[in-house]
Amino acid sequence: MSDKSEKGFVIWFTGLSGSGKTTISHILIEKLKAAGKKVEALDGDVVRTNLSKGLGFSKEDRDTNVRRIGFVAHLLQRNGVVAITAAISPYAEIRDESREVCEDFVEVFTKCDLDTLVGRDTKGLYKKAIAGEIKGFTGVNDPYEDPKNPEVVCDTNKETPEESAEKILKKLEELGYIKTAQV
Ligand code: ADX
Repeated sequence: MSDKSEKGFVIWFTGLSGSGKTTISHILIEKLKAAGKKVEALDGDVVRTNLSKGLGFSKEDRDTNVRRIGFVAHLLQRNGVVAITAAISPYAEIRDESREVCEDFVEVFTKCDLDTLVGRDTKGLYKKAIAGEIKGFTGVNDPYEDPKNPEVVCDTNKETPEESAEKILKKLEELGYIKTAQV
């Protein structure tokens, strides 16, 4: 595998709300920073309070939100930064568009079944969506398209966030983005 360990790249999380994207990304950020990497996070909830403020959850608005995240991730990546995105990014076509834009792209699917997510419901949103108080909630009454060939699948029903982060680091090493000694 070629040595890409000095270059920037994108870690693109995708998965339902509450499936672990943000939690796992926080662990990765710490580990990669400790290894001397420049790291920046583009988290869905945070992006929606500034870069994508005013956008809603129609397909059109989600596509705009996800395209913006891909655009910024690319700017960071080409300046040697590890850009970690954590938005639901429910549509495969737009994720694939970001893969094209970003070149060095590692897609991480946080896979978790709906029952578990409804059971956890940390933000109380699933309960509201099921009660019909939120329309178009991803996974309940709005689509989520599973990635076909993600570089990493984190089975967050079973794995702890630490185990998932380790799995991702191992894949980054395999792909030549980091060196073993770095983490
Ligand atoms: S995305 O579809 O455009 O990628 P994004 O990750 O930015 O979504 O935002 C998802 C977050 O917004 C969820 O974690 C949840 O807290 C909140 N949210 C509010 N309404 C919805 C909805 N209708 N569908 C999904 N998430 C929603």
